[in-house]
Amino acid sequence: MTTDILQEQIQYYRDRASEYDEWFFRQGRYDRGEPHRQLWFSEVADVEVALGESKPSGDILELASGTGLWTQHLADFATTLTAVDASPEVIALNKQRLNSTSSKYSIKYIIADLFNWTPSQQYDFIFFGFWLSHVHPDRFTDFWQTVKNALKPDGCVFFVDSLFNPESTANNHTKLDRQGYSERKLNDGKTYRIVKIFHEPLQLKESLQQLGWSGNVHSTTNFFLHGLVHL
Ligand SMILES: C[S@@+](CC[C@H](N)C(=O)[O-])C[C@H]1O[C@@H](n2cnc3c(N)ncnc32)[C@H](O)[C@@H]1O
Repeated sequence: MTTDILQEQIQYYRDRASEYDEWFFRQGRYDRGEPHRQLWFSEVADVEVALGESKPSGDILELASGTGLWTQHLADFATTLTAVDASPEVIALNKQRLNSTSSKYSIKYIIADLFNWTPSQQYDFIFFGFWLSHVHPDRFTDFWQTVKNALKPDGCVFFVDSLFNPESTANNHTKLDRQGYSERKLNDGKTYRIVKIFHEPLQLKESLQQLGWSGNVHSTTNFFLHGLVHL
């Protein structure tokens, strides 16, 4: 894997910032009809319940925080909340979203490339949503080492990501495959190549065990996997 694709991935999310949420809310090119939307949001709710049950608390770190779709939930649980993302554009939207909800305190935002970022403190709880699938297998071990370095000894990590489901992506994207890369389009048709790994929950759990992590990786019926792990 070249570093060019990682830069293209960052640029894709910077350019996509204002239209990012259309994916989550199943709008525009992601609109697959009402039954699909209902199924999607019932599975989002399942993940939100699992996140609540994982009892996030204390000093929370969110990696690749995006526009705040998950930051807004973490904010309810945190004593302090730090959000890291490479895109200033999504951080701006995250701030807007969090300011408009009843956030009790300020969130520390860090604009950084996670593949070149060293945490300056340790956290009780680390969360990342739809990020692990963008970590190329060549960088998987190093990424989890960064997570280890950022975690307090009794801390835990929750992640949510995509299962392989062709209906998750936009209706004008090329058919999903398991090659590890995806071609993505913006609404104006501009095309990018990014890393996209569809992990299998059981295999992911085993890979994490080999790196010293314990815990579980679950899947919802159609769209998502979520894991809760600790050292
Ligand atoms: C699929 S989005 C997920 C956003 C958010 N976690 C969510 O679930 O809505 C991936 C995020 O990773 C960020 N990103 C991409 N490459 C990055 C990198 N090298 N370092 C830090 N963040 C990166 C993007 O800016 C984007 O916000």
